[in-house]
Amino acid sequence: MTTVHDDLGDQAAGDVPMRRIRFTINGVRKVAEVEPRLLLSHLIRQGLGLTGTHMGCDTTNCGACTVLVDGRAIKSCTMLAVQADGHEVTTVEGLATASELHPLQEGFKQEHGLQCGFCTPGMMLAAKALLDANPDPAEEDVRWALSGNLCRCTGYQNIVKSVLWAAAKLRSESASEPAQEA
Ligand code: FES
Ligand code: FES
Repeated sequence: MTTVHDDLGDQAAGDVPMRRIRFTINGVRKVAEVEPRLLLSHLIRQGLGLTGTHMGCDTTNCGACTVLVDGRAIKSCTMLAVQADGHEVTTVEGLATASELHPLQEGFKQEHGLQCGFCTPGMMLAAKALLDANPDPAEEDVRWALSGNLCRCTGYQNIVKSVLWAAAKLRSESASEPAQEA
């Protein structure tokens, strides 16, 4: 079979020009050279080794690959890495501190919100976007926020309870914080 490419001068036929992007991931600034077609999910998993972001379908259906981009829940298999240029990405690895689990992680443990755990990172990030915007959600709000995330194990009931547990914990933590002086 014969393959014909456009004449691109010095660039070798078939070469894909790389793009330099700068972004922040879990609070750390990074620079990467990426192909324009690279998915954000692949940059996160293969490029950065952050394998907590799972790939369940690659077709925008399951939500396992959900991360936060500037605080919004995004299915990272639906976004190109170049679109993260200049933005802030948070993965499940960015939730806990060195000594403490995030209340969402605690909530999933307390309320048995996972079985195999494959969907869990995406569930947590989708839930974080909800709780950042709405600290006191109704059960219906939680179900709506997680409606793009599929779980084949739990039946969702305990996942919803886990998120409500985390919401209550976050509210009690912020209520016990000393008031900021003006
Ligand atoms: S892997 Fe991205 S939505 Fe399923
Ligand atoms: S816990 Fe197994 S897919 Fe959700």
